[in-house]
Amino acid sequence: MTKLEGARFVADRHLEPDTPELRARWSGFAWNEANVAKAKEIVARYPAGRQRSSVMPLLDLAQRQVGAETNTQGWLPLPVMEYVAAYLDMPIIRVVEVATFYFMYNLVPVGRYHVQVCGTTPCMLRGSDDLIAACKKRGMHFGHVSDDGLWTLTEVECMGNCASAPMVQINDDNYEDLTAESLDAILGALAEGKQPKAGTQLKNRHTVEPEGGPTTLTAMVKENHDYRGEW
Ligand code: FES
Repeated sequence: MTKLEGARFVADRHLEPDTPELRARWSGFAWNEANVAKAKEIVARYPAGRQRSSVMPLLDLAQRQVGAETNTQGWLPLPVMEYVAAYLDMPIIRVVEVATFYFMYNLVPVGRYHVQVCGTTPCMLRGSDDLIAACKKRGMHFGHVSDDGLWTLTEVECMGNCASAPMVQINDDNYEDLTAESLDAILGALAEGKQPKAGTQLKNRHTVEPEGGPTTLTAMVKENHDYRGEW
Protein backbone atom coordinates (compact mmCIF):
# COMPACT_ATOMS: atom_id res chain seq x y z
CA MET A 1 0.00 0.00 0.00
CA THR A 2 1.45 3.35 -0.96
CA LYS A 3 1.34 6.35 1.30
CA LEU A 4 -1.08 7.99 -1.13
CA GLU A 5 -3.56 5.25 -0.34
CA GLY A 6 -3.23 5.65 3.42
CA ALA A 7 -6.94 5.80 4.29
CA ARG A 8 -8.05 2.78 2.25
CA PHE A 9 -8.97 0.66 5.24
CA VAL A 10 -11.14 1.09 8.33
CA ALA A 11 -8.17 0.88 10.69
CA ASP A 12 -6.71 4.00 9.10
CA ARG A 13 -9.55 6.24 10.27
CA HIS A 14 -8.36 9.27 12.18
CA LEU A 15 -9.73 12.61 13.35
CA GLU A 16 -8.91 15.78 11.46
CA PRO A 17 -6.23 17.58 13.56
CA ASP A 18 -7.59 20.09 16.07
CA THR A 19 -5.99 23.28 14.70
CA PRO A 20 -6.77 27.01 15.16
CA GLU A 21 -8.05 27.00 11.56
CA LEU A 22 -10.45 24.17 12.32
CA ARG A 23 -11.67 26.03 15.42
CA ALA A 24 -12.02 29.29 13.48
CA ARG A 25 -14.14 27.60 10.81
CA TRP A 26 -16.38 25.39 12.95
CA SER A 27 -16.56 26.70 16.54
CA GLY A 28 -19.66 28.72 15.66
CA PHE A 29 -21.54 25.64 14.42
CA ALA A 30 -25.19 25.49 15.48
CA TRP A 31 -28.29 23.85 14.01
CA ASN A 32 -29.70 25.81 11.10
CA GLU A 33 -33.35 26.80 11.24
CA ALA A 34 -34.70 23.57 9.74
CA ASN A 35 -32.45 21.39 11.87
CA VAL A 36 -33.44 23.11 15.14
CA ALA A 37 -36.87 21.52 14.70
CA LYS A 38 -35.49 18.26 13.31
CA ALA A 39 -33.06 17.82 16.24
CA LYS A 40 -35.87 18.41 18.74
CA GLU A 41 -38.06 15.88 16.97
CA ILE A 42 -35.25 13.28 16.97
CA VAL A 43 -34.50 13.73 20.68
CA ALA A 44 -38.23 13.47 21.50
CA ARG A 45 -38.29 9.91 20.09
CA TYR A 46 -36.41 8.67 23.14
CA PRO A 47 -37.80 8.17 26.66
CA ALA A 48 -37.15 10.77 29.33
CA GLY A 49 -33.63 10.41 30.68
CA ARG A 50 -32.48 8.54 27.54
CA GLN A 51 -32.00 11.52 25.25
CA ARG A 52 -28.33 10.67 24.78
CA SER A 53 -29.49 7.65 22.78
CA SER A 54 -30.18 10.11 19.95
CA VAL A 55 -26.46 10.73 19.46
CA MET A 56 -26.32 8.70 16.24
CA PRO A 57 -29.13 10.43 14.31
CA LEU A 58 -27.90 13.79 15.62
CA LEU A 59 -24.37 13.13 14.36
CA ASP A 60 -25.90 12.19 11.01
CA LEU A 61 -27.92 15.40 11.02
CA ALA A 62 -24.81 17.43 11.88
CA GLN A 63 -22.80 15.72 9.14
CA ARG A 64 -25.53 16.50 6.60
CA GLN A 65 -25.62 20.14 7.70
CA VAL A 66 -21.84 20.39 7.31
CA GLY A 67 -22.30 18.77 3.90
CA ALA A 68 -24.88 21.36 2.88
CA GLU A 69 -22.61 24.19 4.09
CA THR A 70 -19.57 22.86 2.22
CA ASN A 71 -21.25 21.33 -0.84
CA THR A 72 -19.80 17.93 0.06
CA GLN A 73 -21.19 14.70 1.47
CA GLY A 74 -20.38 16.16 4.89
CA TRP A 75 -18.06 15.27 7.73
CA LEU A 76 -17.68 15.80 11.48
CA PRO A 77 -15.15 18.44 12.58
CA LEU A 78 -14.31 18.16 16.30
CA PRO A 79 -16.10 21.45 17.21
CA VAL A 80 -19.25 20.06 15.56
CA MET A 81 -19.01 16.92 17.68
CA GLU A 82 -18.54 19.16 20.71
CA TYR A 83 -21.73 20.98 19.75
CA VAL A 84 -23.65 17.68 19.62
CA ALA A 85 -22.10 16.64 22.96
CA ALA A 86 -23.20 19.90 24.57
CA TYR A 87 -26.66 19.60 22.98
CA LEU A 88 -27.10 16.18 24.60
CA ASP A 89 -25.23 17.10 27.79
CA MET A 90 -22.81 14.21 27.35
CA PRO A 91 -19.00 13.95 27.54
CA ILE A 92 -17.29 14.71 24.23
CA ILE A 93 -15.34 11.44 24.44
CA ARG A 94 -18.62 9.47 24.28
CA VAL A 95 -19.57 11.30 21.08
CA VAL A 96 -16.12 10.78 19.57
CA GLU A 97 -16.31 7.09 20.46
CA VAL A 98 -19.54 6.76 18.44
CA ALA A 99 -18.28 8.82 15.51
CA THR A 100 -15.02 6.91 15.23
CA PHE A 101 -16.70 3.49 15.54
CA TYR A 102 -19.24 3.81 12.74
CA PHE A 103 -18.04 4.10 9.17
CA MET A 104 -21.06 6.19 8.16
CA TYR A 105 -19.46 9.18 9.85
CA ASN A 106 -16.71 10.94 7.94
CA LEU A 107 -13.92 12.10 10.24
CA VAL A 108 -12.08 14.17 7.64
CA PRO A 109 -13.32 16.39 4.80
CA VAL A 110 -14.74 14.50 1.83
CA GLY A 111 -15.73 15.42 -1.70
CA ARG A 112 -19.15 16.16 -3.14
CA TYR A 113 -19.56 12.43 -3.62
CA HIS A 114 -18.19 9.77 -1.29
CA VAL A 115 -17.57 6.70 -3.43
CA GLN A 116 -17.44 3.64 -1.19
CA VAL A 117 -16.41 0.55 -3.12
CA CYS A 118 -17.13 -2.80 -1.48
CA GLY A 119 -14.01 -4.95 -1.66
CA THR A 120 -15.21 -7.98 0.31
CA THR A 121 -15.01 -11.45 -1.28
CA PRO A 122 -18.29 -11.63 -3.31
CA CYS A 123 -17.71 -8.15 -4.76
CA MET A 124 -14.00 -8.83 -5.22
CA LEU A 125 -14.76 -12.06 -7.16
CA ARG A 126 -17.28 -10.17 -9.30
CA GLY A 127 -14.93 -7.37 -10.28
CA SER A 128 -14.48 -4.76 -7.55
CA ASP A 129 -10.86 -4.28 -8.66
CA ASP A 130 -12.18 -3.11 -12.04
CA LEU A 131 -14.48 -0.65 -10.25
CA ILE A 132 -11.57 0.75 -8.26
CA ALA A 133 -9.60 1.13 -11.48
CA ALA A 134 -12.56 3.01 -13.04
CA CYS A 135 -12.61 5.36 -10.03
CA LYS A 136 -8.89 5.98 -10.27
CA LYS A 137 -9.25 6.84 -13.94
CA ARG A 138 -11.41 9.75 -12.82
CA GLY A 139 -8.68 11.08 -10.54
CA MET A 140 -9.75 9.42 -7.29
CA HIS A 141 -7.24 8.22 -4.70
CA PHE A 142 -8.04 6.40 -1.50
CA GLY A 143 -8.46 8.74 1.43
CA HIS A 144 -8.14 11.97 -0.53
CA VAL A 145 -10.54 14.46 -2.02
CA SER A 146 -9.93 14.56 -5.77
CA ASP A 147 -8.43 17.74 -7.19
CA ASP A 148 -11.78 18.82 -8.63
CA GLY A 149 -13.41 18.44 -5.19
CA LEU A 150 -15.94 15.98 -6.56
CA TRP A 151 -14.83 12.65 -5.16
CA THR A 152 -13.55 10.81 -2.14
CA LEU A 153 -12.75 7.12 -2.62
CA THR A 154 -12.98 4.58 0.20
CA GLU A 155 -12.88 0.81 0.23
CA VAL A 156 -15.45 -0.69 2.57
CA GLU A 157 -16.43 -4.12 3.82
CA CYS A 158 -19.63 -5.95 2.81
CA MET A 159 -22.58 -3.58 2.47
CA GLY A 160 -25.19 -6.36 2.31
CA ASN A 161 -25.70 -6.30 -1.45
CA CYS A 162 -23.70 -9.47 -2.19
CA ALA A 163 -26.51 -10.95 -4.36
CA SER A 164 -26.05 -8.04 -6.75
CA ALA A 165 -22.28 -7.74 -6.47
CA PRO A 166 -20.18 -5.85 -7.24
CA MET A 167 -21.60 -2.74 -5.67
CA VAL A 168 -20.67 0.79 -4.70
CA GLN A 169 -22.36 3.17 -2.30
CA ILE A 170 -22.27 6.82 -3.33
CA ASN A 171 -23.64 9.18 -0.69
CA ASP A 172 -27.12 7.78 0.12
CA ASP A 173 -27.48 5.42 -2.86
CA ASN A 174 -26.27 1.91 -3.66
CA TYR A 175 -25.39 1.00 -7.25
CA GLU A 176 -25.32 -2.72 -7.94
CA ASP A 177 -24.47 -5.31 -10.61
CA LEU A 178 -21.79 -2.92 -11.77
CA THR A 179 -19.14 -3.15 -14.43
CA ALA A 180 -16.33 -0.67 -14.92
CA GLU A 181 -18.36 0.79 -17.82
CA SER A 182 -21.66 1.15 -15.95
CA LEU A 183 -19.90 2.68 -12.94
CA ASP A 184 -18.09 5.11 -15.21
CA ALA A 185 -21.45 6.14 -16.70
CA ILE A 186 -22.85 6.69 -13.19
CA LEU A 187 -19.85 8.78 -12.17
CA GLY A 188 -20.16 10.78 -15.38
CA ALA A 189 -23.83 11.49 -14.70
CA LEU A 190 -23.10 12.57 -11.12
CA ALA A 191 -20.30 14.84 -12.32
CA GLU A 192 -22.86 16.53 -14.57
CA GLY A 193 -25.23 17.03 -11.65
CA LYS A 194 -27.64 14.30 -12.77
CA GLN A 195 -29.15 11.66 -10.49
CA PRO A 196 -28.53 8.20 -12.00
CA LYS A 197 -30.85 5.31 -11.25
CA ALA A 198 -29.82 3.53 -8.05
CA GLY A 199 -29.97 -0.23 -7.45
CA THR A 200 -29.19 -2.89 -10.03
CA GLN A 201 -27.74 -1.65 -13.29
CA LEU A 202 -28.85 -4.77 -15.21
CA LYS A 203 -31.68 -4.01 -17.61
CA ASN A 204 -33.63 -7.22 -16.99
CA ARG A 205 -33.24 -7.35 -13.25
CA HIS A 206 -35.60 -5.65 -10.83
CA THR A 207 -33.90 -6.39 -7.50
CA VAL A 208 -31.94 -9.55 -6.72
CA GLU A 209 -34.08 -12.21 -8.40
CA PRO A 210 -32.11 -14.68 -10.56
CA GLU A 211 -31.07 -13.37 -13.93
CA GLY A 212 -33.44 -14.88 -16.53
CA GLY A 213 -36.35 -15.19 -14.11
CA PRO A 214 -37.29 -17.22 -11.03
CA THR A 215 -35.86 -20.72 -10.62
CA THR A 216 -37.86 -21.73 -7.53
CA LEU A 217 -41.50 -21.29 -6.48
CA THR A 218 -42.23 -20.57 -10.12
CA ALA A 219 -45.97 -21.17 -9.65
CA MET A 220 -45.98 -18.07 -7.45
CA VAL A 221 -45.15 -15.83 -10.39
CA LYS A 222 -48.75 -15.60 -11.61
CA GLU A 223 -50.76 -16.28 -8.45
CA ASN A 224 -50.50 -16.86 -4.74
CA HIS A 225 -50.04 -20.61 -5.24
CA ASP A 226 -50.57 -22.90 -2.23
CA TYR A 227 -47.75 -25.48 -2.25
CA ARG A 228 -48.73 -27.17 1.01
CA GLY A 229 -50.56 -30.16 -0.56
CA GLU A 230 -47.51 -30.91 -2.73
CA TRP A 231 -44.99 -31.37 0.10
S1 FES B 1 -19.48 -8.49 -0.46
FE1 FES B 1 -19.95 -6.60 -1.40
S2 FES B 1 -21.95 -6.23 -0.72
FE2 FES B 1 -21.45 -8.07 0.29
